[in-house]
Amino acid sequence: MNDAYSMVCASSHNFDLAKKGYISLLTSGSKASYAKELFEARQKICEAGFYDPLIEELAKIIDKYQPEGQKEINLLDAGCGEGSHLYRLSQRLKSDLRYNLIGIDITKEGINLAAGRNGNIIWCVADLARLPFQDKSFHFILNILSPANYGEFERILRNRGFVVKVVPEPGYLLELREAIYKNEKQAHYSNEQVINYFRQKMQLVEMKKIRYEFPLDEELFPHLLKMTPLTWGGSSEGLNRVWEEIIPSVTVDLKIIIGKRK
Ligand SMILES: C[S@@+](CC[C@H](N)C(=O)[O-])C[C@H]1O[C@@H](n2cnc3c(N)ncnc32)[C@H](O)[C@@H]1O
Repeated sequence: MNDAYSMVCASSHNFDLAKKGYISLLTSGSKASYAKELFEARQKICEAGFYDPLIEELAKIIDKYQPEGQKEINLLDAGCGEGSHLYRLSQRLKSDLRYNLIGIDITKEGINLAAGRNGNIIWCVADLARLPFQDKSFHFILNILSPANYGEFERILRNRGFVVKVVPEPGYLLELREAIYKNEKQAHYSNEQVINYFRQKMQLVEMKKIRYEFPLDEELFPHLLKMTPLTWGGSSEGLNRVWEEIIPSVTVDLKIIIGKRK
């Protein structure tokens, strides 16, 4: 630590601590295009409990795969966005262990919102393709609906550590997809390539599917529309159609893939 507001690394890069209490560890500017509005909408959706069944399952997985004999667990959420998943997970973890929780995202907008929360979590603006952590330092890496970099994940993972990746299943937000795209190709989604790539890079340990319906109302629906990149590429006709008709409930269909070093 240099002084109360900045740190200097071994290569003499200076990193400032933002007023909100997070640190930016990017040495060059980010080209990510996630807007503040999108993250705020995502936070509202998370606060309504939209992803809670997923978070419950993640807490069980962390409990099940905890390394034996360790009292302190290092867990990274790589591509944490506005931080809701890690924050809500932190409230469900067993209290007999000490968890060092770190959330990183390439966007300042996401981390700025994340850092506005209480909770004993370190938030950093950083690139998951150049993770600012030492080799073999994490017991768990979460990677939820975000891009992955398995070379980096493997480097920072402990020998007996686990990558826990969450990917959409074909039914994820299906009602929204169908309303926006009608019969166009984008109405259908397959995660086959993403899962095959994971299996090439990591040793698959377990896969779990989570599927449920989440009820929507007038207040929540616009946030759902704003939070998803699905609505970015839709035709204006398709988008007007969904803004007008509120979909009563939407399917959440996800796969959790757990892997370790090969
Ligand atoms: C669809 S959002 C998911 C965010 C969060 N995990 C969630 O489920 O709400 C994808 C996230 O990946 C982040 N991201 C994309 N490329 C990244 C990179 N190279 N390094 C770190 N984060 C990245 C984006 O900024 C965005 O927050």
